[in-house]
Amino acid sequence: MGNDKDFGVVVLISGSGSNLQAIIDARLPISLRAVISNKANAYGLERARQAGIPTEVIDHRDYASRADFDAVLQQHIDHYQPELVVLAGFMRILTDGLVEHYRGRMINIHPSLLPKYRGTNTHARAIEAGDAVAGCSVHWVTPELDAGPVLLQAEVPIHPGDSADTLAARVLEQEHKIYPEAIRRIASGEIRWQQ
Ligand code: GRF
Repeated sequence: MGNDKDFGVVVLISGSGSNLQAIIDARLPISLRAVISNKANAYGLERARQAGIPTEVIDHRDYASRADFDAVLQQHIDHYQPELVVLAGFMRILTDGLVEHYRGRMINIHPSLLPKYRGTNTHARAIEAGDAVAGCSVHWVTPELDAGPVLLQAEVPIHPGDSADTLAARVLEQEHKIYPEAIRRIASGEIRWQQ
């Protein structure tokens, strides 16, 4: 668990974990205490193991309700006493209770220039709207989905002929830069929750 002076971080994933990999590779002055997935086959778990980070799987299908799942998830996260909880492709809607518990201590990365395109299919929607730029945002997690205060963004151009997939790949490259950077700034105290 590291010593008391560590800036402890727990990362929640559901899938590939490429953002987790970027956070690992950035070698930040933080202690990555655990990676928790709601899916046993998430490739990000393998990335965590390779990096020597403890992993846990908590399958939401084993719980009767969202509240039951979140209660267990919270218990497991709190066991690691993290300063920050990082959602990195964690594909679950969280209950207000859990979000409130981590108010000012939980961040997410979203593949759009918030407040534009909350929710899913962000790239297709940006192309469909004829936007010239797309991007990604790191934001504090608050009860309203994808609506918490933004702390860092990056823009990319949308090229003629882009598909949702080509645009997603361009945006993902930027995600891998700004997510570690946002965590670095929070850990150093440069960025603070102010609400
Ligand atoms: C990213 O596009 C992120 O913006 C979204 O989920 C995806 C996660 O990708 N929230 P990965 O698992 O980090 O590769």
